[in-house]
Amino acid sequence: MNDQDCKKAYSEQQDTLPAFHITGEKGWINDPNGLVFFKGEYHVFFQYHPFSTVWGPMHWGHVVSADLTNWRYLPIALAPGGNGDKDGCFSGTAICAFGKLYLMYTGFEENGGGDNIRQVQCLAESDDGITFKKHGVVIGSDQLPEEYLPCDFRDPHVFCHDGKFYCLVAAKTKEHKGRLLLYRSPDLFKWEFVGDTLGFDSEGIMFECPDFVEQFGMIAVCDQLPPPKEDGCLNVHSTRYFLGKMDFASGKFEVKSEGILDYGFDYYAPQCFAGIDEKIFIGWLNMWDRNVPSAKYGFAGMLTVPRKMTVENGKVIQTPVVNKREVFKTSVDKNLTDKAVIGVIEIDADGLESFELKLRVGGENFTSIKLENGFWKFDRSKSGEEIRGAEKDGLSLSGVRKMPFSGGKNTKITIVLDRYSVEFFEGGNVMSSTIYPPENADKIALFIEAEKCVYTRYDVVKQ
Ligand code: FRU
Repeated sequence: MNDQDCKKAYSEQQDTLPAFHITGEKGWINDPNGLVFFKGEYHVFFQYHPFSTVWGPMHWGHVVSADLTNWRYLPIALAPGGNGDKDGCFSGTAICAFGKLYLMYTGFEENGGGDNIRQVQCLAESDDGITFKKHGVVIGSDQLPEEYLPCDFRDPHVFCHDGKFYCLVAAKTKEHKGRLLLYRSPDLFKWEFVGDTLGFDSEGIMFECPDFVEQFGMIAVCDQLPPPKEDGCLNVHSTRYFLGKMDFASGKFEVKSEGILDYGFDYYAPQCFAGIDEKIFIGWLNMWDRNVPSAKYGFAGMLTVPRKMTVENGKVIQTPVVNKREVFKTSVDKNLTDKAVIGVIEIDADGLESFELKLRVGGENFTSIKLENGFWKFDRSKSGEEIRGAEKDGLSLSGVRKMPFSGGKNTKITIVLDRYSVEFFEGGNVMSSTIYPPENADKIALFIEAEKCVYTRYDVVKQ
């Protein structure tokens, strides 16, 4: 390939990637890992298989950003092959301590599979946030209480409280139910078991990817294969949160309320940035056990837009963080048509009575969001390429997801659009889904009945 062909191939590839959602450029990605603000930049690592568009030996991919919208690739931070992580560096978190950046992650060794699998918690350290030195296993199978299986022990979430380090790790009982275990350490290297934090089983077969936000008294955690619930999360693997109080002496968390973090089709393994006061979460904008149509362009999987989270009167409120510039603003009387594939749309309505928005309209294709009987109904059945999953419930099979409408006099909607995704925010709730329409399906049609409505569209600021 000469220089010009190279440039052309590169720009064609850029046109097939999400414009501002994190991906691996090529290969497969799943969970976000090690979210941290370190030395003036936001660092995001992610579960990464650079050599194929399906899951394989896990590496930690790495991107950084100054504005949470424009991401720059850095070299792979962790690759399998060390002490305890011969076959994979699974999910984990980051912490800034002693002037350095530490990553705590699960080392995976297959050993022929089944009960012989070993999952242990490992530590790596960096001075510059770019190259990491592995320290090997710091919480081994021997530190797992007797009633748990050493083959399913993963996803350490490390944090600091009162001058000590704590780590929540997901574990599986011999009865094949998930639990969350809390460990404590003075120095990140020597760990002791504190307690079984939730004290109850996962609804499905295993918890994964816990995150604890002390300021909110919140544990966010994934539940693998819970039974589907129409009023809860319908995803085959779902993300729940618990609000309550942690007792650090016993390691027990008293749950006062619970809910789900996202109502859409594609959301998993969220975690919160360490190293800053604001609580900003990123999740995986995808789901296990589904085909990923973008694989034909050489990549599979992306992360959600960063979301600022607060908890107000016991309710979790999420709003997107995007570096954006206003390009079009108009008041709407019933109908509006517009065009966009990439960008942010805000709709501000007083006295909303009816609403239907069609996005990515072109030929036979469209994606719709409708207000129906107190719910937002998202429909991707005609969005574009088919996404087949392991779902068994009627709503999911028909390509539909619902999110409660907050009601009230004023309604503020924000929609974050990228080539393959729609993230719909209203009343602090969010529903995130992937879609794979043709690139030229770019029209927008809004039908609204309200006392007053203002529509604003923004471009994403690319640097
Ligand atoms: C969740 C998960 C984690 C594990 C990682 C492996 O999506 O299954 O539990 O560490 O993915 O890639």
